[in-house]
Amino acid sequence: MIAVAIDGPAGAGKSFVAKTVAKQLGYIYVDTGAMYRTIGLACDRAGILADDAEKIAELLKGINISIKYFDDEQHILLGGEDVSELIRTERVSMLASRVSALPVVRAYLLELQRSFAKSNNVIMDGRDIGTVVLPDADVKIFLTASAKARAKRRVLQLAEKGEKADLNTVLADIEKRDYNDSHRKIAPLRAAEDAVIIDTSDIDRDESVNRVINTIKKGII
Ligand code: DC
Repeated sequence: MIAVAIDGPAGAGKSFVAKTVAKQLGYIYVDTGAMYRTIGLACDRAGILADDAEKIAELLKGINISIKYFDDEQHILLGGEDVSELIRTERVSMLASRVSALPVVRAYLLELQRSFAKSNNVIMDGRDIGTVVLPDADVKIFLTASAKARAKRRVLQLAEKGEKADLNTVLADIEKRDYNDSHRKIAPLRAAEDAVIIDTSDIDRDESVNRVINTIKKGII
């Protein structure tokens, strides 16, 4: 089985690039951020604070998160309900970042994430895939971009959905999430030592896809 790890901060284009490359190569795309988001959503619904490790540990015993592939996309289910769209709000982004700092949450998701790579060729995107989840991945890529470039893209994405957003507010949110994700004690966001770093600040989506495909081809020959 071939495993490709793509890590990097929020908004660097990981999910678009990973999805597109997975389609081109016929691999399965696994979006691990969606799993943290689903736990963030479950906490919100249960009225549990995203930092309350004890209550979250209890909550995790009673929920079921699963992944299904249909319409060419990964769908994430919380107790059978497809929450793939519901988890894409700014509120859930922040909750996901907070719950992801808890060891109990990371341990809960680790086996689920690893199980995909056991029986499929995968491209897995996240923050700690190359460092913790799949340390023996065949190819490791760290996809990054400046906070400003990422904030601009996010504002454009929201505009496409008809939502207005203030660039400075989005930038502040991105910087806060970067800080949370890279300063937590457990599995912080960082490039693996053997990762290839690709900066997408000044290149478009297609060029990002090309660079990732070339990096993978070099890595698996
Ligand atoms: O990639 P994303 O924005 O959907 O991820 C949401 C949050 O989940 C992110 O702020 C950090 C966390 N996360 C993580 O800690 N480890 C991963 N492998 C993926 C996401």
